[in-house]
Amino acid sequence: MKVLVVGNGGREHALAWKLLQSNQIEQVVCVPGNGGTASMERCQNLSLGVDDFEAIAQFAKEQNISLVVVGPEVPLAKGITDYLKSVGLMVFGPTKAGAKIEASKAWAKAFMQEAAIPTARAAVFTEAGAAKSYVKAQGAPIVVKADGLAAGKGVIVAETVEQAHAGIDAMFGGEFGSAGKFVVIEECLTGQEVSVLALTDGLTIRPLLSAQDHKRIGEGDTGENTGGMGAYAPAPIATPELMAKIQREVLEKAIATLRKKGIDYRGVLYAGLMITDSGDFKVLEFNCRFGDPETQVVLPLLETPLEELILACVEQRLAQMPPIAWKQGAAVTVVAASGGYPGAYEKGKVITGIKEAEALGTTVFHAGTKAFPGGSQGTRQVVTDGGRVLNITAVGENFEQALAQAYAGTQSIHFERMYYRRDIGHRVR
Ligand code: AMP
Ligand code: GLY
Repeated sequence: MKVLVVGNGGREHALAWKLLQSNQIEQVVCVPGNGGTASMERCQNLSLGVDDFEAIAQFAKEQNISLVVVGPEVPLAKGITDYLKSVGLMVFGPTKAGAKIEASKAWAKAFMQEAAIPTARAAVFTEAGAAKSYVKAQGAPIVVKADGLAAGKGVIVAETVEQAHAGIDAMFGGEFGSAGKFVVIEECLTGQEVSVLALTDGLTIRPLLSAQDHKRIGEGDTGENTGGMGAYAPAPIATPELMAKIQREVLEKAIATLRKKGIDYRGVLYAGLMITDSGDFKVLEFNCRFGDPETQVVLPLLETPLEELILACVEQRLAQMPPIAWKQGAAVTVVAASGGYPGAYEKGKVITGIKEAEALGTTVFHAGTKAFPGGSQGTRQVVTDGGRVLNITAVGENFEQALAQAYAGTQSIHFERMYYRRDIGHRVR
């Protein structure tokens, strides 16, 4: 099979890497990919926009691509699956109607209420005055969310009423574009967050191993939110009992309600959950795709060939698949970021030490990188090209081993103003 992977992050490098481990996969093409996907054997990049559906379809048809796997939410929300399916391609990822579960927080809230899925109490507003009065009545802390996609930046966990009001003004003032036309205001939950990524064919839904990520830029989980500074799997807090409850009360209900609404959802349904101190949980959000960086720690532990699971979802025969097989042990990924991220940062810094990190047993998934022929990394030179640059990933018999290896690998990598958190996995140390 030839597979086309849409996206250019660490998640897409991990997807391509995992797919290429199977002898069923002849080649992977990443659109547009990054320096890591450009450097893998049997993998190539194609420089097209992820929303250039026509050009992607034309290439896929000409090159006999058997399967398209979509990484990011933006093309899914714009209907890439609908379009590629309409021209006869096989696609893993929900349609535009299904992607609404991530693309509209107001829609997702109403959906959870309809499905009786446990979630934070919330109200939806279309203008600032009513939203502010509601915040005043509820008091702080309180959470203010822009309805639409905002690259992870549309959520404000406000400690004070004033902060919440400022967030409301920013959202209705257009700071998040049309994503802020509706604003969801939500009860603030406390506890530990867990990501449960599940595969579904629209009828059956099966969770992958649970994972936890570190969203904040600073050590001790402080400072600004980012796309994720590191992750680990499996999450010890997600006990088998808790996973069984999540299966019954979240995943099964979600898929049944999607079907009831006439939505044929085939892809990843990612539930972001808050586990409270009493062990209860509520859904914070659904995503319509693999998590990043959760994928980078879940896939290295997966033993079942990924393409078998994906094909079973696309062909709606997930119920007939044997249980998903996992390696024993633990996986950790440390994100190396450009200094300044999540604010402004520079690009084009030469990266060294990737080979050395890999010689220590790590797998280095690239995120914001570019590769040029003729450098020191084998035959290529790799430079930074984004905020999150590399995901240095290790699998060990336990977290102690995996963490030691991931950090040893991270320390052998250098680029100007490289930043990483030294406390990834602090809950499992
Ligand atoms: P979301 O995109 O809805 O997951 O929100 C992004 C992040 O904001 C989450 O991962 C949480 O860290 C935080 N968050 C979202 N909703 C809540 C909530 N109701 N209570 C506390 N924190 C929240
Ligand atoms: N790691 C969070 C996300 O993928 O949304």
